[in-house]
Amino acid sequence: MANNFNSQYPSIEDLRAKAKKRIPDFAFEYLDGGCNEDVNLNINTSDIRKIQLEPRYLQNYKEADTTTKLFGKEYSAPFGISPVGLQGLMWPNSPEILAKAAFEHNIPFILSTVTTMSIERASELTQGNAWFQLYNPVEDEVRNDILKRAEVAECPVLVLLCDVPTFGYRPRDIRNGLALPPKMSAKNIFQVLGKPSWALNTLKHGVPTFETLKPYTPEGLNLKQLGKFMDKTFSGKLNAEKIKPIRDKWKGKLVLKGVSAPRDVEDAIKMGFDGVILSNHGGRQLDAAQSTISTLPNIANRYGDKIEIMMDSGLRSGPDIARTMAAGAKFTFMGRSFMYGTAALGNKGGDHTITMLRTQFKQVMDQLCCEKVEELPNHFILN
Ligand SMILES: Cc1cc2nc3c(=O)[nH]c(=O)nc-3n(C[C@H](O)[C@H](O)[C@H](O)COP(=O)(O)O)c2cc1C
Repeated sequence: MANNFNSQYPSIEDLRAKAKKRIPDFAFEYLDGGCNEDVNLNINTSDIRKIQLEPRYLQNYKEADTTTKLFGKEYSAPFGISPVGLQGLMWPNSPEILAKAAFEHNIPFILSTVTTMSIERASELTQGNAWFQLYNPVEDEVRNDILKRAEVAECPVLVLLCDVPTFGYRPRDIRNGLALPPKMSAKNIFQVLGKPSWALNTLKHGVPTFETLKPYTPEGLNLKQLGKFMDKTFSGKLNAEKIKPIRDKWKGKLVLKGVSAPRDVEDAIKMGFDGVILSNHGGRQLDAAQSTISTLPNIANRYGDKIEIMMDSGLRSGPDIARTMAAGAKFTFMGRSFMYGTAALGNKGGDHTITMLRTQFKQVMDQLCCEKVEELPNHFILN
């Protein structure tokens, strides 16, 4: 294992436990929680883990090669970093840490519209390799300006998010005053005082702000006003009419994130998307939804030759990546896993988490005697 690997944290669960101790409760709960009763959050992972894989020990086998081609580029492994909003709240500088680590390890990093690093900075840190996730702005002018900036920053892939037609109902965030509009309560301030390394780092880096959105945000808003402004400026509601001008303008690859229904994938193909990320926002929006993995084999079977089928929501380990790839995904993404990494280990968190997941994933491939990522479906056992 590489030098930058910290052997005290050999699993995502170890990083999660450390993150919980190190950052204020309201920040940890914002990251960790699902919506309503957390049913969707929990089945995302438990359903992935129902998948079993069959090793083939007597094959003429050399060594696993984890490299994976996607949209004409070769990545070092079939996983990347999902877009996460407000990353600087969980650990200051975490989008910078993750973008840098993703670039060094040659895996994709997706920047959220509402995170605490700008498109331009993401591009600089990844030498033009960062993908950008767009929350659809209500005003065409704002949308066009953001698209232009993403193009100038050489983002190869634009990801349109469709699974936030309304805010998720998240009891923890409501209790903590993090729902929109947000409030800073005495309880939250008390929690900050109990986490000195988080507080000191936050002081050092300044209050996290929505960097990409700065040019469109009036100055001097308090938190409550900012919440209202964001609510008014962005609409998660997408339809053919809103997607068409984006497809017409965007010359790079276009990916739809947040679908789970076969009919939505069929529409995405008709609308000219190059890929879809099957995703339910990590169980943060519709508690009564299916797990993403339960929709994957059917969708991959029906549409896998027409559009790139990727998946996130629920993966927490190398075996989970292997199970998902065996079930038909072309590529996988994770959100919380990487944020647990930076919240637990700060500057070393991105490097550590990627190294760990890649090591775990390669071990599974070697154990299966599977040389190539695209051969993983040969090891899938239908239950
Ligand atoms: C704290 C948090 C914030 C998120 N913010 C965004 C966002 O701004 N844009 C987006 O497309 N998805 C967002 N997501 C969803 C992730 O991109 C991803 O779909 C999800 O985390 C995958 O599930 P996992 O955490 O189980 O890996 C967020 C997820 C979390 C946990």
